[in-house]
Amino acid sequence: MRKITIAIDGFSSTGKSTVARQLAGALAYAYVDTGAMYRAITLYALRSGFISGDTVDQDRLNANLKHLHIEFRHNPETGRSDMYLNGKNVEKEIRTLEVSRAVSQVSVIPEVREKLVALQRKMGENKGIVMDGRDIGTVVFPDAELKIFMTASPDIRASRRYKELLDRGEEVAYEEVLENVRKRDHIDANRSVSPLKQAQGAVVIDNSDMGLEEQFERLHNLAQQVIRED
Ligand code: DC
Repeated sequence: MRKITIAIDGFSSTGKSTVARQLAGALAYAYVDTGAMYRAITLYALRSGFISGDTVDQDRLNANLKHLHIEFRHNPETGRSDMYLNGKNVEKEIRTLEVSRAVSQVSVIPEVREKLVALQRKMGENKGIVMDGRDIGTVVFPDAELKIFMTASPDIRASRRYKELLDRGEEVAYEEVLENVRKRDHIDANRSVSPLKQAQGAVVIDNSDMGLEEQFERLHNLAQQVIRED
């Protein structure tokens, strides 16, 4: 059976990663969460003191980009891939609200995007991949055989994210999470480099009122249809 490239884009906290990972598992494809890569660079910038408030010292960050080694490694305990930054597992650290607050500022930097897009294309060169992010169908793989654009209302997305953070033991207020979701939507959709937008030919899925199983079935059916086409 032929292998295809599946690009899944959409706003933050639409549950893209969960369904993308499930789909990759069912097809025996690789799964890449590109948000984790932007988060890893953001964590590095925070730890290096390159971010203060809403300002990123782009020159210093860019000067250090070539020393940054970003890779996914399989974690046999969870069966998932963890993000490694310069040889250290940072899977947990990249998911905090502190990183979520700063990541949009880092992902507007053209040199950061250039580095990560090149890595992502390399990961997908043999197809058989499900990749999720913001610019996968528009920039990274404009020729992907299947493109999905996931969306859901800001309230629903903030509730999902709030629950996730609470489950992880972070003390946050719901309003703070909603504010972060709205702010990220705005920056992600309005930045000049690779703004989040629907790729041409993308199938739009609004999952505000859809359960996980239903979303998975929808995507799996779409993927199987495309794989069968020639
Ligand atoms: O999917 P996520 O919420 O973990 O992504 C974190 C941030 O990274 C998000 O606010 C926008 C940015 N991002 C991006 O600019 N391009 C991608 N392909 C993936 C994520």
